[in-house]
Amino acid sequence: MIDLHCHLLPGVDDGPQNVDESIALAKKLVEDGVKQVVVTPHMLDGVYNVSMSQLVDGIQNLQEVLQNHSIDLQVFPGADIHINAQLVKLINEEVVPTIANNKKYILLEPDNNIWGDVVDQVVFSLQIKNITPIITHPERYHVVQEDMWCLKSLAEANVPIQVTAASICGFFGKKVQKCSRELFQNGLAHIVASDAHGVRKRPPFMTEARKMMNKWLAKDVVDDIFDVYPRKILNGEYIQLPPPQKKKRRWFFG
Ligand SMILES: [Fe+2]
Repeated sequence: MIDLHCHLLPGVDDGPQNVDESIALAKKLVEDGVKQVVVTPHMLDGVYNVSMSQLVDGIQNLQEVLQNHSIDLQVFPGADIHINAQLVKLINEEVVPTIANNKKYILLEPDNNIWGDVVDQVVFSLQIKNITPIITHPERYHVVQEDMWCLKSLAEANVPIQVTAASICGFFGKKVQKCSRELFQNGLAHIVASDAHGVRKRPPFMTEARKMMNKWLAKDVVDDIFDVYPRKILNGEYIQLPPPQKKKRRWFFG
């Protein structure tokens, strides 16, 4: 599997604090079935300050360390980018990275208080520059739990929406798990990623999430979510998402 969202770089954010912790998490990802991972430290969140050179050097060092430890995991640059009105400018200036430097996709984390028009405006400003944002873990926000159809305009605008594997497995509680299931069943979510932070703190859960999703959705839909879309996103290829629609009984097996 490909994991598009993971805090694997040591000592830059609230992920692994040192190389040993990164190695442990990398081993856990491989055990969990991940072969390729986009390393996505927090950026523009007002807390952590990771520069592009730190990211590029960090990725290179990390790949070497993994090879030296015979860990079969390929790492790519990326970032967990918090929403910011200047985002297009910052991407153009290469202050923040796109996924695998493909200049096509970024991970975008809205704030709990910033939804609706602000998100739509930032998304639109990116799309006219041919950059597609992937909205991260909306299932964890109260505003989405209350009314998930606030994501409808984004899904209709072909914006991929990423749910966190741990949410699907119930790690964040029943409410988040139920919201995750319904987002997928309504076509309001399209990607699963680990957003892992460490072996103990926030483990990956990718295989367990996939098993759970196979109870919720048809296999070909799950394969798109875990294999087809992540591969295309990593390669910077266009994806056409199915339009959202209210859950149909035939999709629900659990
Ligand atoms: Fe994250």
